[in-house]
Amino acid sequence: LSLENPPVGEAVRASTDHPTSNSTSFSELERRTFAIISHPDAGKTTLTESLLQAAGAVHEAGEVKARGDRRRARSDWMKIEQQRGISVTSSVMTFQRSNILFNLLDTPGHQDFSEDTYRTLTAVDCAIMVIDAAKGIEPQTRKLFEVCRLRNVPIITFINKVDREGLSPFTLLDEIAEVLQLDVSPQNWPTGIGGLFHGLYDLRRAQLLVADRSDGVVPGRWFDTSGIDDPAIAEVIPAPAVESLREDGGLAVASYPAFDLAAFQQGDLTPVIFGSALKAFGVEQLLDILADDGPPPQAQPARPAPVTPDEPRLTGFVFKVQANMDPNHRDRVAFVRICSGKLQRGMKVLNTRQGKPMALHNPITFFARDRELAHGAVAGDIVGIPNHGILRVGDTLTERGDVTFTGLPDFAPEILRRVRLGDPMKVKQMRRGLSDLAEEGVIRLFKPLIGSQWIVGVIGELQLDVLQTRLEQEYGVSLDFEPSPYEVARWVRSDDPALLKRLTETLRSNMADDQDEVPVLLARNAWEFGRFQQDWPGIIFSAVRERN
Ligand code: G4P
Repeated sequence: LSLENPPVGEAVRASTDHPTSNSTSFSELERRTFAIISHPDAGKTTLTESLLQAAGAVHEAGEVKARGDRRRARSDWMKIEQQRGISVTSSVMTFQRSNILFNLLDTPGHQDFSEDTYRTLTAVDCAIMVIDAAKGIEPQTRKLFEVCRLRNVPIITFINKVDREGLSPFTLLDEIAEVLQLDVSPQNWPTGIGGLFHGLYDLRRAQLLVADRSDGVVPGRWFDTSGIDDPAIAEVIPAPAVESLREDGGLAVASYPAFDLAAFQQGDLTPVIFGSALKAFGVEQLLDILADDGPPPQAQPARPAPVTPDEPRLTGFVFKVQANMDPNHRDRVAFVRICSGKLQRGMKVLNTRQGKPMALHNPITFFARDRELAHGAVAGDIVGIPNHGILRVGDTLTERGDVTFTGLPDFAPEILRRVRLGDPMKVKQMRRGLSDLAEEGVIRLFKPLIGSQWIVGVIGELQLDVLQTRLEQEYGVSLDFEPSPYEVARWVRSDDPALLKRLTETLRSNMADDQDEVPVLLARNAWEFGRFQQDWPGIIFSAVRERN
């Protein structure tokens, strides 16, 4: 422990490790495009603020909101937000640290949870999974993780709230490994949790961050050590904390795999950081891992071949469309992930689904500094394209005529409802509205083979509100929802067409077509669905369907 050297303060550590280069032009900055996945209340919002602060983007805690308000007053995309009532501000947050531009994509949780939350994860190269140390893996975290796994998105795990009483670090690590079938590699170790928390030991750099407990629990100083057994550690933290660090930290290093960059980037191993988003412990280290080891923009699956970020012509795909809820303005904003090339204001691109060109007159970028608008967006960036309903989820926009992005998933709904029409004379309008909105990706639509009452499916309740409002405003149809007899919907397919036909005939009252006429099985509950799976081993029941 080098006490004779001036102890390295957190800020000093950040600036020595990351010399800022002013000479790098905006489009040459490296990109890290990521999302934070978590269960409500695990600390996503707090961590977002803390990350912005650690990157130097915010100077005081709690300033995120205030700063947002100030910026709102002058930026041009905010005008769009105000005039058109489309909330775009929270969709992407962009910040810079040294030579890296971070694009943080919002994954709406709580009551906003929807299919968009899932689909946003197809537009990122990396995800931070936040876990509450007292609760372990919770249902929404797990669902979001499964979506990341579809594309092998690398995951960095942040175990939050170690300043409070929680489960043992070993219990948490083992749970992640077992439940998510993922190798876990702790990158730091807490010297006890809750009342026993005295700091974090950075296993990568053999440095100890000591908590200053004289003033609540706040990050104090960093100390260099010769290793976890360095006797001088006892000079800066109390004996029980030293003991716990030595024994448990030592056991952790011996028991879990070392960090392996390739395994991480393939999505097989997750580096784990213990910390406190609220008290800014572990956040700097999290940002370091994202910067140093997080993947840059990756090749994206496409026909005729995957598109790599070094392709010079612009390519991108729409992963989310937000509609205005104001009846006077029927505008939409399509959120596009740029996969290659450089977007310039006014440029012409082709929408390959329609085979039609469109000019990008007013792309909305999310970069904080105005001068950067002119420089355009590059691979890894997200832009919003205002349009009048031309762009749909899954669309490819490109300067190349011959490319279509593939693999953008649709997700089986978790809430199924029957629709009840207010005015029976409006069946036609209702059907047209439901079909349009299903095509747009707002809802899933199921037409049972028996009976005429359509069933709508959504991931989150809010989608039902959106459906109701938009049908009323855009199609003049008022409708209500009633419970559906089904709870589970799965797309079905089989290599054996005769078997599929037999399934359809045998379970006719459970079968429906979705809006693209793809067969779907509806089950009354999870138990019944389990039985169908058992009875029909040659059938593939799928909760995810790829577009294109
Ligand atoms: P979310 O976006 O994932 O839903 O979670 P959010 O950040 O809002 O955090 C949920 C609650 O957990 C908040 O408390 C927040 O202060 C607390 N929290 C987040 N990180 C930490 C941490 O590292 N340590 C401790 N001790 N608490 C943490 P709240 O009381 O619900 O809200 P508030 O009134 O404090 O805003």
